[in-house]
Amino acid sequence: MANTTNTKLDKELFEQAFKVQKKAYSPYSKFQVGAALVDDQGQIHVGCNVENSSFGGTICAERAAITAMVSQGGKSFNKIVIVTSTPQGTPPCGICRQVLAEFCKDPKKTEILIATPKGITQNFKFNELLPEAFNSSFLKKLS
Ligand code: THU
Repeated sequence: MANTTNTKLDKELFEQAFKVQKKAYSPYSKFQVGAALVDDQGQIHVGCNVENSSFGGTICAERAAITAMVSQGGKSFNKIVIVTSTPQGTPPCGICRQVLAEFCKDPKKTEILIATPKGITQNFKFNELLPEAFNSSFLKKLS
């Protein structure tokens, strides 16, 4: 984890993630998550968690943001900010890490920024959160 020196883009992503966090549909857990990412074209996409009474139908904020990106034509992302209201913020769950891996621009450079409503608290490179990720390259390695 690196120190967090917030750029203008970091601040913009934080503001958007903070705003969308309030839109979370989380009547069961009461745990609100907001995510904002910037894609390869410089476009920002947001998502919040959307729960379901059949709990397995729940969609996390990070995956909602990725879905928004893909439906707007984005191919990959460079940075994502994730806001939760825990004291230190919350890193993405395992399923979201795998989905983020699919669209991560460069695992060594793409940033995962963790935030609380007060601001960004932790800064990871993607490969710190999911080293040795499974990806499409392995699908081509059948003998
Ligand atoms: N959640 C997210 O949105 N992202 C994560 O990475 C972890 C969990 C949501 C799912 C559910 O609505 C609530 O947080 C509690 O698990």
